[in-house]
Amino acid sequence: MPQLDSWIVLNGGASSLVLEVVPGEAPLWRYWGPRLRDGALPPGALRSDRPTPSFSPEFDQPLSLVPGLGQGWFGEPGLKAHREGRDWTFQVTDCVAAQEGQRAVITLTDRVAKIAVAVTLALDPMSDVLTVATTLTNQGEGVLEVQWLAAAVLPLPDHARSVRSFSGRHNTEFVAVDDALTRSQWRRENRRGLTSHDCVPGAVVQAAGCAYGAQLAWSGNHCQLIDWVDDGRWQWQLGEALMPGEVRLAPGQVLTTPEVLATCAADANGVAQNFHAAIRARMDWPGAAMRPRPVHLNTWEGFYFDHDEAALKELADAAAKAGIERFVLDDGWFHRRNDDTTSLGDWWPDDAKYPNGLGPLAEHVTGLGMEFGLWVEPEMVNPDSELYRAHPDWALQVAGRSLITARNQLVLDMGRAEVRDYLYERLAGLLSELPIGYLKWDHNRDLTAAGERPSFRRQVLGTHDLLARLRAAFPLVEIEACAGGGGRIDAGIARFTHRFWTSDNIDAISRVGIQRGYLQFFPPELMGSHVGAAPAHATGRIQTMRFRNHVALPGHFGVELDLRKLSERDLERLGEGIARYKALRGRLHAGQVWQGEGADGLLWQAHGTATDLILMVTRIDPQTQRHAPGLRLPMLDPARRYRVGEAEYAGAWLVQHGLSLPPLRGESGLVLEVTAL
Ligand code: DGJ
Repeated sequence: MPQLDSWIVLNGGASSLVLEVVPGEAPLWRYWGPRLRDGALPPGALRSDRPTPSFSPEFDQPLSLVPGLGQGWFGEPGLKAHREGRDWTFQVTDCVAAQEGQRAVITLTDRVAKIAVAVTLALDPMSDVLTVATTLTNQGEGVLEVQWLAAAVLPLPDHARSVRSFSGRHNTEFVAVDDALTRSQWRRENRRGLTSHDCVPGAVVQAAGCAYGAQLAWSGNHCQLIDWVDDGRWQWQLGEALMPGEVRLAPGQVLTTPEVLATCAADANGVAQNFHAAIRARMDWPGAAMRPRPVHLNTWEGFYFDHDEAALKELADAAAKAGIERFVLDDGWFHRRNDDTTSLGDWWPDDAKYPNGLGPLAEHVTGLGMEFGLWVEPEMVNPDSELYRAHPDWALQVAGRSLITARNQLVLDMGRAEVRDYLYERLAGLLSELPIGYLKWDHNRDLTAAGERPSFRRQVLGTHDLLARLRAAFPLVEIEACAGGGGRIDAGIARFTHRFWTSDNIDAISRVGIQRGYLQFFPPELMGSHVGAAPAHATGRIQTMRFRNHVALPGHFGVELDLRKLSERDLERLGEGIARYKALRGRLHAGQVWQGEGADGLLWQAHGTATDLILMVTRIDPQTQRHAPGLRLPMLDPARRYRVGEAEYAGAWLVQHGLSLPPLRGESGLVLEVTAL
């Protein structure tokens, strides 16, 4: 890679970044924002026109790629580490910056603290997503205790105003939280051991005329903060949250952070579109390309633990008749699993429910032309299980502390090779013996006392290792990432999986907000969206089949109810929903996604391109206005003409005045195709 001694400039299609290379220092952040013209560089060094303010060190330390402690940087450092209380400062003595195309690697060495940090930045010109990861090497003699290593330190401009992050809980994922950016530090931290329902590892920052987004590709503890900088800018750090003693690097050992995906775009929709493109490019699909997302039938809410082979075969018959393409047998199929108190870990079929194993049901399903999928929760064990009785020490624990169960279960130590081997053998056995095309991989609790030494990080890496091993051995099997719904939705696990179970809450009204938040970070084809029963099990609310179909349409569509119990009319309506999804899925799951709010509580989203859109309009509460104003579609080309249904419009009219919509009742929706002529 050619070495640089002045500027690092990376250009995307619509964004640029500029770092100032200073000999013997970490490069200084000069710019990240909308695309600069080629050659538009700062007129000189940052310090050349910054006089020393009063009561300030004579050494001026601006925001750098890895802000260090002890050198006049008083903001949050990008690295916090020490060797038994020494070597806690990080002051770069040597900087080697190399760049090839849109990828730069900056290696920073501190010869005094004997620490090296290397940051890799790659700006993809197709998606405008910047991928950043950092490695830390202990070049000293003693053990280096690491408290914090930012995966990325990103600059935000002085005109950044607010940050939208996402909170929530089980059954209520992706609750948007808007905070103003002030001089107080903004911080979101998750210590639940997996991505969590409570704290999405990413956010979107609104600035004047543009928006910034970042997300951490990691399925464990994480932290992000936005910190005001003395020159009026902000720094945004994202990384893995480490527990005390969790990372102790022996001499020569290296810590590699998860990747951060970051982007700058015109607005939050642009941020989402860039993220979708980047995640699509990272996906590892069986056969190298995504095939149309098959309609699911999931047995959970229809059957729970009450598995009856004959009834499940009837369900499969009804599913095939309704046009369903994949039948997923959820929890309840394995050894003595009759409720959620026992058996996790005992991954063989229950011989009372399935006296001849799962083969007859699986073959019945595949014989009907559907794929057969199976639910598993490999990382867990119930104290009441054969596995726990044989290996109680395999559960994560701290001697002398009580074992805290959640949903009656404990967490296996995925850092141990024998645990992973056991799980591999069980799962590989099932995958080899049965015609399984799909695994739903669940994780139904947060981690508490995760190991004598905190093992949160090992847990994530161990799970990734097991997933990678299974993917390599069974490359045609797709996997769904689930953690009590949306507890493990992140770009890290997306490397190994092909669908997210967005929420255990299938109530269509609740789902509207959950799905809108999800789409800020991840593409619609990975978003499991089901038509559930009425009343909805999570909320008790009742919605029409049409509305349930409408809300499930944009994602990876599925059905989660006992089809045998549906009225003729609902079955017919569901069939219409399935047929519409099949007709539109190719266009719903390609191209871009725009979301917006019309007047009077109207919500809309559009999937596709500026010349071919599927427009989904959703109304939750009844209209309060007698006549609805036009719904403006800003992404259309004002110079073209469009067909919407039977009518023709000038593009400029739809952009500026908007589309006239018929009156909509509460809990209803409209799907329109908007096509350029
Ligand atoms: C939680 C999941 O989110 C549900 O869909 C279901 O698979 C249950 N676990 C099964 O225990």
